[in-house]
Amino acid sequence: MANAYLNGEFLPIEECKISVLDRGFIFGDAIYELIPVYNSKPFYLSAHLKRLNRSLEQTKITNPHSEDQWINIIQQLIDKSGLQQLSVYIQISRGVAPRDHAFPVNVMPTVFAMTNPWPSVSEDMYTQGLSAVTVDDMRWDRCDIKVTSLLANVMKKQQAIEHGAHEAILVRDGKVLEGSATNVFIVKNEKVSTAPKDHLILPGITRDVVVELLSELNIPLTESAITQQELNNADEVWITSSTKECVPVTRVDDQAIGTGKPGELWARVFAAYQQRKN
Ligand code: PDD
Repeated sequence: MANAYLNGEFLPIEECKISVLDRGFIFGDAIYELIPVYNSKPFYLSAHLKRLNRSLEQTKITNPHSEDQWINIIQQLIDKSGLQQLSVYIQISRGVAPRDHAFPVNVMPTVFAMTNPWPSVSEDMYTQGLSAVTVDDMRWDRCDIKVTSLLANVMKKQQAIEHGAHEAILVRDGKVLEGSATNVFIVKNEKVSTAPKDHLILPGITRDVVVELLSELNIPLTESAITQQELNNADEVWITSSTKECVPVTRVDDQAIGTGKPGELWARVFAAYQQRKN
């Protein structure tokens, strides 16, 4: 069954072959997008395509396809996957060229995509919540672009795992920004806060969905800097991403958050999120 796409062809992932000179491999000179699919329908597709386009513009990689062509590729991947709940991963690199930092001329971008079944979710995630540790953010200062060069994120996530935690929460200059692969929300006295959308966080699509749901639920939200102390003293902490959706974090730096159980506001947002998927 075709579960991948490479430069115009749908094929099984084992048959996808690219050159070792691909700039995505050599330099991490590539951007990506990950789109969740529920009941065979991509969730917030136009927002994902808009961010994909912006990542290409910001890195000056030519967008090889029109929006309609992207929609068509994604739909065909979904149809060929035989799955109903899945994710579609898309990666576009600047293309294949002899190794040289300067952009190559007249080179076609490499377009790769794959589908993956929705990961099985452990119920503990919702009944007990996840744990996180705070770590120094050592990434570059264009975290708003969804680039594949994720070495700092990978190392910070591993640091969390080795600590026995699920996620690393990145702190820069005393400000809580986001997780290694998630956005972060905190709740204090029934008011929600999340870091503002600037060059230091990825503008998560799930973050936008949660912001939309909070407004519909009339729950107050502030998009402004969060201090490490505010995080550690929060009543609730949530992390969001296309693969995790919205999950409670009940331990940060080995200390319980609030009651140490998933919070009431999280439960309301989570229920609204599940409804939005249908
Ligand atoms: N990661 N922040 C970072 C650093 C991320 O890598 C991600 C997503 C998010 C959440 O974005 P969204 O809600 O659009 O998924 C925030 C994806 C899922 C990944 O790298 O696999």
